[in-house]
Amino acid sequence: MPGEIIDGRKIANEIREELKHRVERLKGKGVTPGLVAILVGEDPASLSYLRGIARGCEAVGIFTETVELPANVTQQELDTKIEELNKDPKFHGIILQLPLPKHLDTLRAESAISPDKDIDGTNPVNAGKLLLGEETFLPSTPYGVQELLVRSAHSPEGKHVVICGRSNIVGKPLMGILVQKQKGANATVTVCHTGTKDIPSISKQADILVAAMGKARAITPDMVKEGAIVIDVGVNQIEDSENPGKFKLVGDVDFEAVKEKAGAITPVPGGTGPVTSAMLMANTIKAAEKIS
Ligand SMILES: NC(=O)c1ccc[n+]([C@@H]2O[C@H](COP(=O)([O-])OP(=O)(O)OC[C@H]3O[C@@H](n4cnc5c(N)ncnc54)[C@H](OP(=O)(O)O)[C@@H]3O)[C@@H](O)[C@H]2O)c1
Repeated sequence: MPGEIIDGRKIANEIREELKHRVERLKGKGVTPGLVAILVGEDPASLSYLRGIARGCEAVGIFTETVELPANVTQQELDTKIEELNKDPKFHGIILQLPLPKHLDTLRAESAISPDKDIDGTNPVNAGKLLLGEETFLPSTPYGVQELLVRSAHSPEGKHVVICGRSNIVGKPLMGILVQKQKGANATVTVCHTGTKDIPSISKQADILVAAMGKARAITPDMVKEGAIVIDVGVNQIEDSENPGKFKLVGDVDFEAVKEKAGAITPVPGGTGPVTSAMLMANTIKAAEKIS
């Protein structure tokens, strides 16, 4: 029997409804939470992603702006702009759209964002706090994975979670979040990557399997334990075989095949993506609440 399909859009709606109340309370104090996104260069996919974030934010009452910088901006100019935004009271949260052009140092730029406005948790100060289990801004995608699991009644507590992928924005922080001795975490976590030998033998031990590799349909049924919860973070654009010349989005999991074996599974699109955006909004509101 096919597994339960975890509806990320429904969970994101639920979260946004809760956020609206928090925004109302802030507005009652004369504060409108504000988020600013910095985009370097003119990548159409990034622009469209940021437009989606802006629409979602506006629907819950968060003010947004995108600062667009030319692709040839210098590191010094980027630092200066970030410093200006750090001081601007209109904005409680700052996100830096990645990847940056190759001539720019990503870590230096992330480090320049004030930890108090670093709502995607990329500043090393906040990344360190996450690992220590201290209160901080959790990066939106792994934070969203945790919320998705808890809200769909698949809490990771006491479970073996296997994460495929160890990037600084998904795999590593997710490991750091789920391993904490905290409610909604307290899991046994294994992280796989390209240096891992025999991934199927490890992924088949997972009660919860998270795919964050950026490899279309790489997780196949032989890699999944019967009844496992499968969370697909991957977003890959592939040619649509049914519509020649057109493209479609698929995850890192072979959804159609794996759903027959999984206890529950997230689709792509409509799984982790909407929850990621909702957590960015939650963190912006949290940043505004902290100083209001
Ligand atoms: N849903 C969302 O909101 C959201 C947010 C962010 C990203 N994404 C998507 O999530 C995916 C991952 O993003 P990312 O930024 O984490 O990617 P990334 O920086 O490219 O990292 C990919 C990770 O997967 C590992 N990996 C790649 N191929 C593998 C394989 N065949 N077996 C095992 N491990 C493998 C890599 O290992 P090595 O370290 O050994 O190279 C690396 O650690 C992408 O599809 C991205 O578009 C979705």
